[in-house]
Amino acid sequence: MSSQSKYPTSLFSSNLTFTGENENSGVLAIAGCSGEKLVKEFGSPLFVIDQADFFLRAKSWRQVLDTSFGGGQLYYAAKSFICVEVAKWLKELKLGLDVCSAGELAVALAADFPASDIEFHGNNKSESEITTAIKAGVGTIVIDSFDEITRVSDIAKSLNKTQKVYLRLTPGIDAHTHEFISTAHEDVKFGFSIASGAANEAIKKCMEQSSLNLTGIHCHIGSQIFEVDGFKAAAQRLVAVLATFRDKYSKELAELNIGGGYGIAYTKDESAISPDVVIPAIASVIKDECAKAKLALPRISIEPGRAIVGPTTTTLYLVGTTKSVKLDNGSERRYISVDGGMSENIRPALYGAVYSAFLANRTSTAKSISSRVVGKHCETGDILISEINLPSDIKAGDLLAIPATGAYGRSMASNYNHISRPAVITVINGTARVILRRENEQDLLNLDVDQPPRQIS
Ligand code: LLP
Repeated sequence: MSSQSKYPTSLFSSNLTFTGENENSGVLAIAGCSGEKLVKEFGSPLFVIDQADFFLRAKSWRQVLDTSFGGGQLYYAAKSFICVEVAKWLKELKLGLDVCSAGELAVALAADFPASDIEFHGNNKSESEITTAIKAGVGTIVIDSFDEITRVSDIAKSLNKTQKVYLRLTPGIDAHTHEFISTAHEDVKFGFSIASGAANEAIKKCMEQSSLNLTGIHCHIGSQIFEVDGFKAAAQRLVAVLATFRDKYSKELAELNIGGGYGIAYTKDESAISPDVVIPAIASVIKDECAKAKLALPRISIEPGRAIVGPTTTTLYLVGTTKSVKLDNGSERRYISVDGGMSENIRPALYGAVYSAFLANRTSTAKSISSRVVGKHCETGDILISEINLPSDIKAGDLLAIPATGAYGRSMASNYNHISRPAVITVINGTARVILRRENEQDLLNLDVDQPPRQIS
């Protein structure tokens, strides 16, 4: 087997084509489907997943895991984007699934996803979520706190089950990413700190529970990370915990989960972290450290979400209005308003995330000028792209495409301003299929009720 995976080198969906020479030149098609026709057929804004690209990326990560570790498990992080159809793809690909709520679990189960290949995460799982997960036969629950050790153990006992668990540890790594998506430093809500001794205490407490089967440890250092050093340092600290465990209990923990967080490109100025680089680098640290500590190589699992689904998806928008403003420095800025915004892509507003865009329905020969792509929400901060050069003649009715929107776009979508959440379609070989329909106004009204008051006091 080749050591290089087939991870697509294209930054965005592999099957984006333009009838012109490049972006902004000609008409965009995704997997052979014209962007304009897709919007005519399915409305706008529209999330378009390139299905072949999804499969290629998922298989590549899986393959690199196999070649680097001789096996292991890939748990796709459902929070990045999940729906029943995607869960079916993951089942077909024989991958695992990382869920972190009863809702994500329900989607997986609705797809007949094997419960034994599901991992349940979360820093505050409710009793009802834990009960549902154990009853469903979820493979692994990743325990995040001391409260939860007792809670999972009590619930498993009451159901007469022994639950396989991991402990989520915080290895004290300051991942170089946005503060809100950095998760493994000390001052964070997730997991048990290794440095403070909480991790070893949690292991001890878990080992005392007859209804818990502690098989491994887990860490996730953050998201949208480009440097391998953080992953390597985390792996090294986790192997040290495995060695301490062996010394104390005279047996070895068989599993090690090193989480997700692999960065992708949102603009042409960035490049993704390749599975072919990061996974072998982590593997070499784990192998070296295990050899030094005389530990057997544990079964390794990873949890990529963004790196699989992120690049596969392009959002199509129709331009509604435009205007130009004079800036204090005398220059001009053009505002291009599209028919969505922060409700289907909160990332720019929340993390200052930077995206790119291209005109997708025609060739423009107009010169490119400083532009700002904004949404239709009642907020000044409803900005999709703060600064981008786009053709000066973009006007109402034009189609704009924003690539790399597959992760944490639709999954973090809201109904702010009572705007309905867009449809998600999948395209392959010139065919298109809706996998999540667009919300309609009735959906928005469905939760409004007119009930008589109930006596509470
Ligand atoms: N595993 C765990 C335990 C996680 O918490 C996460 C992401 C992942 C795996 C997957 O990370 P990925 O490979 O997708 O980076 N909303 C933010 C990202 C938050 C990530 C939360 N946890 C964003 O839009 O950038």
